[in-house]
Amino acid sequence: MFLGIDVGTGGTRAILVDREGRVVASCASEHAGIRSEHIGWAEQEPEDWWRAAKEAIVAVLAAAKLTGSQIEAVGLTGQMHGCVMLDTEGKVLRPALIWADQRTQPQCDWLTEKIGFARLIELTCNPALPNFTLTKLLWVREHQPEIFAKIAHVLCPKDYVRYRLTGEFAMDMQEASGTLLLDVTARRWSAEVAELAGIPMSWLPRLFEGPEICARISSEGAGVTGLAAGTPVAAGAGDQGAGAVGMGILTPGSVSATIGTSGVVFAATDTPTKDRLGRLHTFCHAAPGLWHVMGVTNGAGLSLRYLRDTFAAGASYDDLTAEAAQVPAGSDGLMWAPYLFGERTPHLDATARAAFVGITASHKRGHFVRAVLEGVAFSLKDTFTLFGELAIPVRSIRLGGGGARGKLWRQIQADVYGQPVELLEAEEGGAFGAALLAGTGVEVWSSVEAACAATVRVAEVIPPHHTDVMAAAYQEYRRIYPALKMIQGG
Ligand code: XUL
Repeated sequence: MFLGIDVGTGGTRAILVDREGRVVASCASEHAGIRSEHIGWAEQEPEDWWRAAKEAIVAVLAAAKLTGSQIEAVGLTGQMHGCVMLDTEGKVLRPALIWADQRTQPQCDWLTEKIGFARLIELTCNPALPNFTLTKLLWVREHQPEIFAKIAHVLCPKDYVRYRLTGEFAMDMQEASGTLLLDVTARRWSAEVAELAGIPMSWLPRLFEGPEICARISSEGAGVTGLAAGTPVAAGAGDQGAGAVGMGILTPGSVSATIGTSGVVFAATDTPTKDRLGRLHTFCHAAPGLWHVMGVTNGAGLSLRYLRDTFAAGASYDDLTAEAAQVPAGSDGLMWAPYLFGERTPHLDATARAAFVGITASHKRGHFVRAVLEGVAFSLKDTFTLFGELAIPVRSIRLGGGGARGKLWRQIQADVYGQPVELLEAEEGGAFGAALLAGTGVEVWSSVEAACAATVRVAEVIPPHHTDVMAAAYQEYRRIYPALKMIQGG
């Protein structure tokens, strides 16, 4: 039996997975929420993640009626990029700046100027974006030098929970890729970037591949969770890497499209495929010897939620999608550009704004809902278009997140991507992938590939129907962003 722990943004989830890949129990504990003192800021307390992790672990062991000694290994995953700063005693110095924090554009500009855009991509495979950990450290150096002076260790959110469970400072390659301090090609910290940025290498934790056992539960960790001291802990991966493992996205050509609050199109590759314009993230995969690329739409599921909360309070998602299902593909010309939170892929534009385009008096509420579902799918399609430009193969597409649950959104995705899409028997997110990495670490499976082959099963394949209408609508959608930029003085 394996324990997967997902230190998410909204809460921490613990799941127990058996050797056949069945989820035996799953329990979650909510976080206190995101603190945003100023527009664009997003902070959370590491101590609160630890509180939630303890609660979720205790609850999941109780739900499955298991004792700690029955857990063979633990795997960790979580929200990526967050910057946790600790002093020499391992005490948290300030709240963590998390992935959603957008305050560091000036630090990104400084770093890009210092290292050079092309050189930074050469060294780390990625450009400087406010989401990435290093830029958050640079902000603290500039604005809170008294805190910066005390830093002795830097971790990402799930790695802080690992530290509390085991006393070890460790990070996996996939997570480390999102710090902007990793030489993603060579799978080691980039001494050159650290030096140019002025970050001591001694602050960085030891690196491991995702399934490697990097630590053991300490007696303190055992005492507060019910786990057994000495239980092996695998390095794990960030939520996107572990989520992809849980969906079996490992061989080149296999791709996932996951719509949660944000939307991610993720492809496994056998070499680091760099976009010289930096529009995709190029990271190490959670499986050794593999890499991945991903494109991120910031406001994916968020678009539907925004529409409901703002214009249809009280309506359920089912009510709204039932109305949308009455509307023809293409929403009778109504379109949605989902840039509610700026956009990452392909525009890398934190100032982009969302828009409905083409409203007429005959459009009903169902048209607006359908336009939102289609607009989000078009935005994910932009990543597939980039994959085409960079010759990244797409042989199969697996759907994940909320976008896989409703019938209409699945069909719209098949229609917009112009390819059949696959649904999995169980789609359990990152915690499931983290449990598979743990099982691989203790050699229950010989490799991550073998773990996926034994546990990930396709339940249904959905063929595309309205490909011509949606291909034409996508071409129109592509013209919206440049037009918005002109209007909004970009
Ligand atoms: C990935 C990303 C998000 C966070 C939060 O680049 O920013 O997926 O990991 O879940």
